[in-house]
Amino acid sequence: MTILTPDSSVNIKNKQEKLILSLPLDKPDHAAQVWLYSGLFWMVITMLIGLVEAIKLFYPEFWQGVPALAYGRLRPVHINIGVFGFMSMGYLGAAFYMVPRLTQAPLFSERLGTLTAWGWNFNLLGGCLGILMGFSKGQEYTEIPFPFDMIICLLEIAIAGNLFSTVVLRRERRLYVSLWYILLAIIPFPIYYTLGNANKFRGIEDAIVNWFYSHNLFGIWLTTLGLATLYYIVPKQVQKPLYSHAISFVGFWTLAAFYPWNGGHHVIWGPVPMWVMSASVTASLAMFIPVFATFVNFGWTAWGTWDIAKKDIGYRFSLLAYCSYVAASLWGCTLAVMSLNATLHFTNMTIAHVHMGFLGFGVSGLAAFIYFYVEKSRKLKYSQALAEWHFWLTVVGVLGYVVSMGIIGWIEGNEWVAGNAIQGTMLLRKPYNIARAISGLILIIGQLLFAFNVWKTVSPKANIIGTESEMVLNSHTSN
Ligand code: HEM
Ligand code: HEM
Repeated sequence: MTILTPDSSVNIKNKQEKLILSLPLDKPDHAAQVWLYSGLFWMVITMLIGLVEAIKLFYPEFWQGVPALAYGRLRPVHINIGVFGFMSMGYLGAAFYMVPRLTQAPLFSERLGTLTAWGWNFNLLGGCLGILMGFSKGQEYTEIPFPFDMIICLLEIAIAGNLFSTVVLRRERRLYVSLWYILLAIIPFPIYYTLGNANKFRGIEDAIVNWFYSHNLFGIWLTTLGLATLYYIVPKQVQKPLYSHAISFVGFWTLAAFYPWNGGHHVIWGPVPMWVMSASVTASLAMFIPVFATFVNFGWTAWGTWDIAKKDIGYRFSLLAYCSYVAASLWGCTLAVMSLNATLHFTNMTIAHVHMGFLGFGVSGLAAFIYFYVEKSRKLKYSQALAEWHFWLTVVGVLGYVVSMGIIGWIEGNEWVAGNAIQGTMLLRKPYNIARAISGLILIIGQLLFAFNVWKTVSPKANIIGTESEMVLNSHTSN
């Protein structure tokens, strides 16, 4: 018989705690890994779906006759997996990694972080199957049917609660720049997400609210998570502080002030009140300030670091993400100019801009973070040769996609302004659509090599680099 003394009850409690702590679900960074690798998985899936769509645009007979694989169903699935699967999950993975380090405190609940990741995965799968079966809500970026749409919102509240509680319970009093961006991403999401998905508005109001929601999804949700990640890893990759804290401050607050009012630039020349258009165009042009601030801040930080870029592929991807972010954003500011928008709105120029943002900035930024995580944090060495291939295939793929769509977008706009029939530009599009599909294929091969490289590296037999003392030293600089 066991006699329970106060000491033995403490022991039992300790044993229980140890048992709980030894569950993989509670290990530090477990949630971050599940989010991160899920993001990687969805990235490959959305690219494959994008490739099928791209082929259908010049060879419509491709996989014809299966309703679930019709262009009109695959396109929203591509978009929703791109936004909620790849970008959201990948960058939330980075946030789950960064927040405990920036706050010097353990994640409020590792278990909740992991459960929300799996919940998000299965819910997204359900939502996309719903779209493929024809249950789409039928409006861009809100296609995911009920109840899957509302479950996204509830899960986001749980994620935000988890990360925010970690920030509240932090040991480090300072709030680093990356934390500002993460907080901006996670706090307002439920407000505009619910507005956008509630289906309570009609007609013109509906269009305005839809774009208020959708633009915040790109600007306040995805872009801020992406920027938070770059602000975190770049100083560590170049081993020096960011060029200017004051410029980061200006960049952050101007972005927070202007981005939410950009939505109206998606309906320029639509039947919306003129003041809505003018206000959103003004806010879009004002976005030049935060973009320029980011350009200067990262530009000066990166100045003179070419030697690091030659060796460190993760850093090279950071530079690619930074250049693409600046390029996509300046491109966006230009597209918001009303006279130019009149010509280019219905063309592939928008598609080129979108993919400059998602592929150039989104894909590269996540690759930069994953290389950083694997090498600098887990001290594992990936295959340099595969990573080199990954980098150059990504550069070629992104450039091929963006240039082919940019050129045909420009041609389409000018043809339509000149009064030439749409059928004519349809024929003109074919070689550019083929070029896009080839670029997409190149990009996908690069990402498959990347996924294989990461998988081989993090599998248990992986190569550990550095000596014990180097690892301790690195863990101080990298956290
Ligand atoms: C993983 C990264 C990607 C993301 C996040 C992404 C996201 C998007 C988004 C948001 C749109 C809608 C754009 C709009 O309506 O203005 C779109 C459309 C499209 N994407 Fe992607 N995309 C990705 C990769 C790719 C790839 C690799 C291809 C393959 C070539 C591709 C092909 C397409 C096609 C064909 C369209 C439809 C164009 C149209 O309707 O005219 N995407 N994508
Ligand atoms: C200062 C920054 C930016 C500005 C001012 C801006 C501006 C614009 C404008 C004016 C359009 C509408 C074009 C049209 O339909 O006529 C647009 C579309 C879009 N932008 Fe941006 N953009 C910016 C950055 C970005 C970034 C970084 C991303 C991605 C991460 C992005 C994602 C999108 C998407 C997905 C659409 C297409 C929406 C659709 O029609 O389905 N934008 N942007």
